[in-house]
Amino acid sequence: MTFDKIYQYNFPTIIRFGAGSSKELGDYLILHKLFNPLIVTDSTVAQLDFFREIMRDLQNKNISPEIFADIHKNPVKLDVYRGTEAYDYTKSDCIIGIGGGAALDVARAIVLRVNHREDLFKYDDLIGGDIYVDNEVPHFITIPTTAGTGSEVGRSAIIADDETHQKKILFSPKLLAKIVFADPMLTMELPPFITAATGMDALTHNMEAFLAKMPHPICEGIALEGISLISQSLEQAVNKPDLESRSKMLIASLMGAVAFQKGLGVVHSLAHPLSSLLDTHHGLANAVNIPYGMEFNIEGFEHKFKRIAKTLDLEEETGAAVVKYLFDLNTKINIPHKLRDIGVRQEHIETLSNLASADFAHPNNPKPVSRDDFKRIYSNAL
Ligand SMILES: NC(=O)c1ccc[n+]([C@@H]2O[C@H](COP(=O)([O-])OP(=O)(O)OC[C@H]3O[C@@H](n4cnc5c(N)ncnc54)[C@H](O)[C@@H]3O)[C@@H](O)[C@H]2O)c1
Ligand SMILES: [Fe+2]
Repeated sequence: MTFDKIYQYNFPTIIRFGAGSSKELGDYLILHKLFNPLIVTDSTVAQLDFFREIMRDLQNKNISPEIFADIHKNPVKLDVYRGTEAYDYTKSDCIIGIGGGAALDVARAIVLRVNHREDLFKYDDLIGGDIYVDNEVPHFITIPTTAGTGSEVGRSAIIADDETHQKKILFSPKLLAKIVFADPMLTMELPPFITAATGMDALTHNMEAFLAKMPHPICEGIALEGISLISQSLEQAVNKPDLESRSKMLIASLMGAVAFQKGLGVVHSLAHPLSSLLDTHHGLANAVNIPYGMEFNIEGFEHKFKRIAKTLDLEEETGAAVVKYLFDLNTKINIPHKLRDIGVRQEHIETLSNLASADFAHPNNPKPVSRDDFKRIYSNAL
């Protein structure tokens, strides 16, 4: 690791972590004189018992929550426009995202849009749109209900174009939540498949962040501990969940997102096109691709894989052992080993490789990834 210039490191979010922390929401709102929150969630979470309980608790405290739950699985611009209309119409005074990464991303994009009414994609970070995020934004609170994306502590929202399905990133430090209530009790009933897929997303964040090329020892320390926590708890959280495994997964997913301000890599670039082209769940796409992406990264980075292997407590401290660990973990949590098992066909490889090559994640990979590399990795995983 060489420090060849000045780098910026940020860790500002307040996190209330632990079983029951979501019950503090009402008092927090009263303290900040916020009585008309817009709650952004998805239509599944809106029906769950814990969600209704949070709403009841707010009403008992004379707070009037308005619920916006009309969002797509891979969120699109229209979701954000409709949510902003709901914010205006109900004269809301703050925004609370409650849900998985999809709901939290829509919530964050509404936070942006409330006082930034140009076309949403004018603010796309990849075309330098972050500089236009110059107005104030509403008070923003996040409550994660999956242990995967860590979007609750993020500064960006991934929103797709309604027609092309191309994913855009809205980014600004202003989009950080003022406070996160991370309550593992809300994840207790997550179905095994969602636990597995979102958990592998969290593992991918930690591993890719650890390997990403920016020198950032703070993030690398967090990423290694995140990997360790997931290795202790993901299998249990999927097959026999208890509060300890759910707590470890929730904090590790949040740590993954803190760590990946350092960057992501080849695995996320392999995964993103599967969601745009085939609507594959983001975590599942990462889960199937991670052993292949990591295999690609070993050469030249054996010293880093040795540290990952040590963290995982593997007998053999090599990259090959890490790849084997990932395949074995996928087996234990019922994730398929091959892309063809999640709907990918030979005829998709060309388009997937083009999209992956244009993706924003791999420029931070420890080594360059060419279009031909993507083609080879996809073919190998097919
Ligand atoms: N902003 C970021 O930094 C970032 C990073 C990675 C991914 N993402 C985005 O996050 C999204 C994926 O998020 P996700 O993996 O959390 O999935 P998700 O938000 O799509 O949720 C998965 C499913 O789980 C259900 N669910 C959520 N909480 C539940 C609970 N407690 N009990 C039962 N069911 C529950 C949801 O209704 C949904 O059907 C994608 O849109 C992706 O682009 C964002
Ligand atoms: Fe991810």
